Amino acid sequence: MAEHLHIAASAGKKERYEILLPQIESLVSGEKDLIANLANITAALKQTFDFFWVGFYQVKENIVLAGRQELVLGPFQGPIACTRIGFGKGVCGTSWKEAKTIIVPNVDEFPGHIACSSNSKSEIVVPGFTNKKVFLLLDVDSDRQNDFDQTDAENLEKLMRIIEKLTN
Ligand code: SME
Repeated sequence: MAEHLHIAASAGKKERYEILLPQIESLVSGEKDLIANLANITAALKQTFDFFWVGFYQVKENIVLAGRQELVLGPFQGPIACTRIGFGKGVCGTSWKEAKTIIVPNVDEFPGHIACSSNSKSEIVVPGFTNKKVFLLLDVDSDRQNDFDQTDAENLEKLMRIIEKLTN
């Protein structure tokens, strides 16, 4: 297992992802525990991009409503966050419902956005799939508006494909 990330300080965003993803793949390849891997992935993303908030929500059985599911907070880096999010609620619940990546350039303009921190200004949420169903969401928040674009979407989707392979 790699113990240090190697990312040149001068690298731009696209280059950082290109250098980071193979290192993440090698970091997680020898470990079967999902939470351990997600914890290291959030640390690697925080270290590489200094995101304001980066973390995972897992789809789990609803604690109150039998047979229903909800999102439950998983490993993350950043300020404390909402622990449970319903299907279709907020950006995360919408990404889960629509089973697709959502980029929010300005959180104030997203109907139903859940503000875990008032410092969060833009956001991207990327789903991960098992048996064609969403089982995991990666959520990244920025304290600046318009901070996420197609480069983030494409590369964070590649990251989710790496994570999906661990579950098969
Ligand atoms: N803003 C998210 C909630 C999670 S936090 O940002 C960490 C949402 O609207 O789903």
